[in-house]
Amino acid sequence: MQPPVTDQVERIATEARSLLAQADTPDEVEQLRIQYLGRKGFLSDLFASIPELPPDVRPSAGQAANRLKAELTELVEQAAARVAQARPVSAARFDPTLPGRRPTLGHIHPLSLIIEEICDIFRTLGFSVAEGPEVELDWYNFDALNIPPNHPSRDDFDTFYVTDRVLLRSQTSTVQIRTMEKTRPPVRIIAPGRCFRPETEDARHAAVFHQVEGLMVDEGVSFGDLKAVLHMFAREMFSKDVQVRFRPSFFPFTEPSAEVDCTCPACGGSGCGTCSYSGWVEIGGAGMVDPNVFDAVGYDKEKYTGFAFGMGVERIAMRKYGVKDLRLFYQGDIRFLQQF
Ligand code: DAH
Repeated sequence: MQPPVTDQVERIATEARSLLAQADTPDEVEQLRIQYLGRKGFLSDLFASIPELPPDVRPSAGQAANRLKAELTELVEQAAARVAQARPVSAARFDPTLPGRRPTLGHIHPLSLIIEEICDIFRTLGFSVAEGPEVELDWYNFDALNIPPNHPSRDDFDTFYVTDRVLLRSQTSTVQIRTMEKTRPPVRIIAPGRCFRPETEDARHAAVFHQVEGLMVDEGVSFGDLKAVLHMFAREMFSKDVQVRFRPSFFPFTEPSAEVDCTCPACGGSGCGTCSYSGWVEIGGAGMVDPNVFDAVGYDKEKYTGFAFGMGVERIAMRKYGVKDLRLFYQGDIRFLQQF
């Protein structure tokens, strides 16, 4: 049977070996050094207990304690050297060849994409992009566009008023007037922008929406030019074999006026849910600039003719992307927006 001091030495040694082997920072090694070899550590307790032992076991206990002290001192030194070396090793774990973490990037909103695409198509046809204010005078939104004072679109149910004369534009046709007031023919512009109407929102209507206006004025501009330009636009926007049709209509600022349809991008014209089984979808309104509009901006109506058109951006985006509910564009749901 081993004497109790030797037992104690064995227990301390086993524990210290395992703890020192696990230590992996200089701080941990230092804590263990203090715990075992420090002034109030296990070893000094052990040495202090030796004089109280029976005289016959003191020498062997003393030797065992000395061996333990030597072993622990060495283990502490080794552990200290190991963790000091481990630091540069852990710094070397940084691998500069690993790909970095990519920050999540936003991207262009689908409606902005459509507006850019529309602008690009018309730029290739020689149109430049014009802009106008969203808060407008009624002159630009109505009077100069030949919209009479009693016209229903002027009442509070159809237009947001700031004051009697100032309003949120309900159409981008305002930019036709602003452009013609500033420049002489030839004019070839498109004007994308936000419009406002007191609408009850549903899958097809929003109180804030976007239009793209177009205007071309020069000597000898004809309805044939209008048809060619919009047909070309529809082919670029939707597909090469799209058909375009003009239905007689009325707008105060154009004469004659038309609603413009194209064959349904979803079914190609054979009829489906998107086009209510008619094969056609509306893309906007258009016509030849009314002579009264030329009078309002001081253009010579005997000399110049022109065409104008207005298209709903949301409608075009819905058709192009097959989106059934316009509100999706405005809800900011990342799962929806990430698809474009
Ligand atoms: N401004 C019209 C609207 O908001 C759209 C429009 C129709 C614009 C015919 C035009 C046009 O320039 O010629 O309903």
